[in-house]
Amino acid sequence: MECKKSNLHVLLVSFPAQGHINPLLRLAKCLASKGLLVTFSTTETIGHMMKEATNTKSTNIGQGELRFEFFSDGWEIDEPQRANLATWMHQLKTAGRESFIELINRQSETGKPVSCIINNPFVPWATDVAAELEIPCAVLWVQSCAVYSIYYNFQHQLASFPNPDQRDMVLDLPSLPSLEFDDIPDFLTLNPFDSLRKVILSQFKNLDKAFCVLVDSFEELERETIEVMSRISAPIKPVGPLFRSTKNASVRGDIWKATDDCLQWLDSQSPNSVVYVSFGSVVALSSEQLQELSAGLLKSGTPFLWVVKTPPPDMGSKPELPQGFKEEAEGKGMVVEWCPQEQVLAHSAVSCFITHCGWNSSMECLTSGVPVVAFPQWGDQNTNAKFLIDVYGVGIRAKKTPTGKNGAPVVTRDEVERCIFEVTKGANAEEIKKNAVKWKEAAEAAVADGGSSHRNIELFVDDIQRMAC
Ligand code: UDX
Repeated sequence: MECKKSNLHVLLVSFPAQGHINPLLRLAKCLASKGLLVTFSTTETIGHMMKEATNTKSTNIGQGELRFEFFSDGWEIDEPQRANLATWMHQLKTAGRESFIELINRQSETGKPVSCIINNPFVPWATDVAAELEIPCAVLWVQSCAVYSIYYNFQHQLASFPNPDQRDMVLDLPSLPSLEFDDIPDFLTLNPFDSLRKVILSQFKNLDKAFCVLVDSFEELERETIEVMSRISAPIKPVGPLFRSTKNASVRGDIWKATDDCLQWLDSQSPNSVVYVSFGSVVALSSEQLQELSAGLLKSGTPFLWVVKTPPPDMGSKPELPQGFKEEAEGKGMVVEWCPQEQVLAHSAVSCFITHCGWNSSMECLTSGVPVVAFPQWGDQNTNAKFLIDVYGVGIRAKKTPTGKNGAPVVTRDEVERCIFEVTKGANAEEIKKNAVKWKEAAEAAVADGGSSHRNIELFVDDIQRMAC
C-alpha cells in the first residue's frame, strides 16, 4: 500500500475514565486534522455513555477522518459498571484485550489496517497487543512530565521516598524543585487507593516497547524535566496543550451530559466576577469539606458556578450539599452536575478556578489564563498544585487544617473566603493574573504553526509514515 498520509490509520485506545478520554480524544482530533484516518476507542460501556451525552459520531476533520469504535470489557452496557475497581481492572485486561484484538482485525478486513496504536499507559496491555500484531505503538502520558519523573524514580528506586512517619523529609529529584511530603503523589506515600497505585506503577511496565512517549505538556513549561527524562527513560515528545491544539470543539468526549445553561448564566454575570469550582470526574469530598466549601462560597459574597459530581463506585458516595444551601445560594450561584469546562474557562465572566488540580484541569486553566485556588485531594493533584502555585505562579494553595472527623485535614470556610479574595483582589492578584496570561500566550505559541508542540506532532506523523512504508 502507498504510504500516503490518507492511507495511515492510527488507532487510539483510552482507559475508560474522563481524565484519560479527554487528552486521547484531543490527540485523535489533532492527528485527523493532519489528514490521517484516526479511530478512537475505549470500552463499550463508556462509548455508550459518550453517545448518550454528546451524540458522538464519526466525522471528517480537515482532510482526515475521525471514527469511533468500542470494545467490550465483558460487562453488559446496562450492567452496573463494575463490582469493584480491582475486579473491573482485571476484566479489562482479559475480556477487554480479546475484544480489542477483534476490533483491530476488523480494520484489516475492511481494507483499513492499523498502521499505529497509541495507548495511554493505564492500559499497558495494549502495547503487548501491538507487539504481537507487529504494529508500531506509541503512548500518550496524560499527566505532567514532573509526575512522570516522580513515578519513574520511585518505580526504579532511584531515590528514597518518605513514608507516613517521615513527613519532614524533603524529596530532591533532578530538574524538580524540592518536594515536601504534601507535594508528592500520595499513591507513593499514603496509598489511598491500592488498586490505582498498582495501575500507576504498572504504567512503566511497557513504556520501553513504545517508539515514542507523547505528553500533554509543552517544552516551554517543562523543558529541563523533558530533557532529563528523555535521557534516562524513553524519548519524550511534548505535544500539548492538546486542549488548545484541537480545532474541532464540537466533537467532545464527555461521558455525562453537560448543563449548557450555565454558559447563559455566565453571560448574565459581570466580567471577571465568577468563581468556577470543580473537582473533576472522580474526586469525592468529605461531608465536612462540602459543608466548609459551601459556607465559604456564600461567605465570600462572590458569584459561583460549582460542579458537584457523583464519583464513580469505589471512590466515594453521592455528595450531599448541606441542608438549605441551594435555597441560600439562589441568585448567588449555580450548581451543576457537569459543565462544558473548556468553554467555562474561556468565558470572560470567570475570575478564578477552585480546582482539585487534575492534570487536565491544570493545563486547561493555565492555558486559559485563569488564576487558580489549588485544592488538591490526592495523587498527582498534590504535585500539580505545587507547580501551579510555586513554579508557574498562577494562584494560591488552600491550606488544610485538621478539623474534620477524626482530625482529617479540611479547608475551612474562612480559608475558602481568604483564598478567593487573595487570588482575585489581594496584594499578589495582579502578579498572578500577569503570570496566567503569560502561560496562556506561551501555550498558544507552542501549538501555533511552527511552535514546539506543533513541530512535534508533525515529526510524529512523519515517524508513523516512515514506519508504514
Ligand atoms: C483524573 C485524576 O483525578 C487526575 O489527578 C489526573 O491528573 C487525571 O485523571 P480527573 O479527576 O477527572 O482526572 O480530573 P482532570 O484531569 O482535571 O480531568 C477532568 C476533565 O473533565 C477535564 O478535561 C475537564 O475539562 C473535564 N470536565 C470537568 C468537564 O468537561 N466538565 C466538568 O464539569 C468537569
